[in-house]
Amino acid sequence: MIYLAPLQGFTDYVYRDSFAKVFNTVDAYFIPYISVKNNKVPNKYIREILPENNTQNRVVPQILAKDAAEFELLENDLADHGYSEFNLNLGCPYPMVTNRGKGSGLLPFPEEIYKILDHFYSSAKGELSVKLRAGFKSADEIKDVIKVLNQFPLKEVILHARVAGQLYSGEIDENAFSYAADMLKHKLVYNGDVFSVEDYRYKQNKFQGVDTWMLGRGILMNPFLPHEIKGIQSTPKERFELLHTFHQTILKRYLEVMDNEGNALNKMKQFWIYFSYCFPNQRKVLKYIKKVRSLNKYGEIVKSAFYEISC
Ligand SMILES: Cc1cc2nc3c(=O)[nH]c(=O)nc-3n(C[C@H](O)[C@H](O)[C@H](O)COP(=O)(O)O)c2cc1C
Repeated sequence: MIYLAPLQGFTDYVYRDSFAKVFNTVDAYFIPYISVKNNKVPNKYIREILPENNTQNRVVPQILAKDAAEFELLENDLADHGYSEFNLNLGCPYPMVTNRGKGSGLLPFPEEIYKILDHFYSSAKGELSVKLRAGFKSADEIKDVIKVLNQFPLKEVILHARVAGQLYSGEIDENAFSYAADMLKHKLVYNGDVFSVEDYRYKQNKFQGVDTWMLGRGILMNPFLPHEIKGIQSTPKERFELLHTFHQTILKRYLEVMDNEGNALNKMKQFWIYFSYCFPNQRKVLKYIKKVRSLNKYGEIVKSAFYEISC
């Protein structure tokens, strides 16, 4: 199975919905985290979680919370929106988040994680999974965290085996992943740096008990990666058409849902940060896209980028 990772600012509901409509090759979609502000769920998250914007088979919302009270507030709001599966974020590495004791900032405090899980399971409104890093400062932290996770009937655990300070680069700690695979009682999902079929095969060989893979940047850079991993054949012409349709679907949706053309264009510029890797002259295409100020000019650049891969 392949899951689409949550990437704040990239895998929003427009992206997820368009991906599902055009490619339909992933088995679950994780919504980037939602969190509490001033004891409320901020309005900016509403469109992300509305059921009508999340019609795929399995969509899992993610909760970023510092304690059981925050978790419960978000869980209740999500349950009111019809969700019965939740994911707890124990991975976000950014100081703005970790300084407030959230995301990977909770990893050095397994007793706090215990309190959140204990509270959830005392009146569970559904199923819960956890997405975590190997540690905040050190991958040793995972040992005590696993002891806590093993005390609860989690649906699954998704591990991105880096520590917070690494953000999204540097070596994945394969020993930490193997340790988790041995010690966890739960199903373990692999996440991190699967950018090609070769990467996938290498990890599959290394972690033979794993059958579910969460992919983030790999899919953003190559939406055909799940096709390739699952062995779904497609001709160059089909690939070209799917890629083009995907782009057009996303553009149309942003133009419909954003307040104005400028904001839609900004969303497309963000999308191209990774999408540009589908094109042989990635840097040049991205440079032109970043400079664009009008929809007309944008259309011209996109047309010539697609033209180059069509011949
Ligand atoms: C820009 C960006 C935003 C992210 N947002 C989230 C998020 O909201 N929740 C989360 O659990 N992980 C988030 N992540 C981490 C990814 O889900 C994933 O764990 C990480 O990118 C490693 O997987 P990959 O190598 O397949 O991309 C984010 C990563 C990036 C680069």
